[in-house]
Amino acid sequence: MKLTYNKLIWMLSVTSTLFSCSQQDKIETNQPMQVIDNHTYAKPSEALITHLDWDAIIDFDSKKIIATATYNISISDNAKEIILDSNGLLVNSVKDGNGKDLVYSIGKEQPFLGSPLKIEISPSIKKISISYKTGESAEALQWLTPKQTADENSPFLFTQSQAILARSWVPVQDSPGIRFTYNAHVKVSKGMLALMSATNPTQVSSNGEYDFVMDKPIPAYLLALTVGDIVYQKLSERTGVYAEPSVIKAAAYEFADMEQMVEAAEKLYGSYQWGVYDLIVLPPSFPFGGMENPMLTFATPTILAGDRSLVSLVAHELAHSWSGNLVTNATWDDFWLNEGFTVYFEERIMEAVYGRDYSEMLALLSLQDLKEEIESISSGKNPEDTELKLNLKGRNPDDGMTSIAYDKGYYFLRLIEERVGRNMFDAFLKDYFTSNAFHSMTTEAFITQLNEKLFEKNGLTVDEQLYTDWIFGQGLPENCPQPTSDRFANVERVVENWTNGTKLEKLFTPEDIISQKWSSHEWLHFLRSLPEDLSLEQMKKLDNMFEFTYSGNSEILAAWMVHVIKHQYKPGYQNLKNFLINTGRRKFLSPLYIEMAKTETGLEMAKEIYTKARPNYHFVSSSSIDKILDWED
Ligand code: BES
Ligand code: ZN
Repeated sequence: MKLTYNKLIWMLSVTSTLFSCSQQDKIETNQPMQVIDNHTYAKPSEALITHLDWDAIIDFDSKKIIATATYNISISDNAKEIILDSNGLLVNSVKDGNGKDLVYSIGKEQPFLGSPLKIEISPSIKKISISYKTGESAEALQWLTPKQTADENSPFLFTQSQAILARSWVPVQDSPGIRFTYNAHVKVSKGMLALMSATNPTQVSSNGEYDFVMDKPIPAYLLALTVGDIVYQKLSERTGVYAEPSVIKAAAYEFADMEQMVEAAEKLYGSYQWGVYDLIVLPPSFPFGGMENPMLTFATPTILAGDRSLVSLVAHELAHSWSGNLVTNATWDDFWLNEGFTVYFEERIMEAVYGRDYSEMLALLSLQDLKEEIESISSGKNPEDTELKLNLKGRNPDDGMTSIAYDKGYYFLRLIEERVGRNMFDAFLKDYFTSNAFHSMTTEAFITQLNEKLFEKNGLTVDEQLYTDWIFGQGLPENCPQPTSDRFANVERVVENWTNGTKLEKLFTPEDIISQKWSSHEWLHFLRSLPEDLSLEQMKKLDNMFEFTYSGNSEILAAWMVHVIKHQYKPGYQNLKNFLINTGRRKFLSPLYIEMAKTETGLEMAKEIYTKARPNYHFVSSSSIDKILDWED
């Protein structure tokens, strides 16, 4: 079928996702309103990629990927070029579907955006094929030495493409509004397993070659690859875990409820669209808690607490299979549509599986994060970053990755739920995920859908003030919902009694501690509620009683270590150092380095630790910590 320009525009506005506007706009102007993504060089109204065939060799010796990316493309009649994003890639050749060389150029590199790869095309060209290898410091990739893995016997590679790092390992139209399907053929050293955000093997192949298929259209930020000494354990017909051999047992235990979570999610908002749902536990340098790569969530080992207490992260990444992977933020300015919806959905899954008592503790922790974040952003140079709809033009989209998108987004949706009632809101959300599946969404289009399909449809009045305050306004609106938790209220009473002089031994019996009466969330709340002016004596008492310095729960350990730094509690220093050297999860690292950087001696200690720790961190984490410490590489 020849794709005419008109057909292309129709495709874009109706089936694809680059244009998003109300039906009204389309009818009146007959021209869809164009969504501008400031973080791509691609010009989707001229030429689009629709399918990728990726053929790659993963070379651990040179720490390079050598690959050919062949795209099916759709172009408008008058398009003269197709533009892809690239960052540091060394392009060897660009050919058409018949193997004929095409003229191409690589434009000027810009901070974090990389360079445009412009390829001259004519309307008859249906395929382009780019041979390339990755550059010296491909930012998405982390190549680990055996020593940096759990088992210490094989090197390891993983990618992190969100937000705009996919372009550092694949030349691609790297915009969340542009979707494509992909197949891949990947060659690794014999004995290693390769996995992608696609159909995956469960066993090592005899020749080191693997084939992958992702037959649902996905945006580039969901491209993912990992290679290492990895084994698989099935958990249910459609769920399973991957990990290094020494970790697999703990992983299978920790995530035993995964199938139950998928079922709870489906019951809420419609069937799971991606076939299998697997999770891989990566080495500790993975910079995030989790990443929702389709069919295969990437996760940090720091959620292996041994007691399943940190599995809300799995609910979160699973929820992205709807919010984010099915209905995707059109640009990074709309990031809250991915994360706010996901936190809301995560809490609903947790409530369904573990009860309201449990999910309300999570909600309260999220409110604490939100208030702290608002205070810190409001006093900084971009107070407008507390608005849900962001304006990240000229900035790194990573700047938008704050608790605003997550927690303010969550509370906004919770407020709507509380206003209209769960039944109506759930029906709206289910329809939202179904009717917008495999499309992208702008904040403005979401508001239109909310008005039409939630409020007007149910005879309710639209409250524009809600959007003014929550989406386009700064800070935390006064009508923010307030969760309550008896369990947290009890924690607060204990802290109060202790600070008023009651002995710890009176407040906690040895049985309390042995039976682990409190969940990790209560302990977290306890640590966050401690007074600012703890004495060294009090720190010692707490540590003697609860052994926080040696906690096997990363959330508790990270929260405790903030106190260790603040109160210069020296018995905690060695473990603080170990934690910072061995863990690469940015959410834990940043607050600790920030706290250390507050004093001169602390800063000195931070720099000393960072010298050893930095080589272990992924680019995402080291670039953040570099800023905190004014570090020059
Ligand atoms: N998609 C995010 C991680 C992300 C966001 C990577 C933006 C790059 C840019 C993922 O779903 C996430 O939110 N992870 C959280 C998990 C948590 C909220 C349960 C994390 O890593 O802390
Ligand atoms: Zn998320």
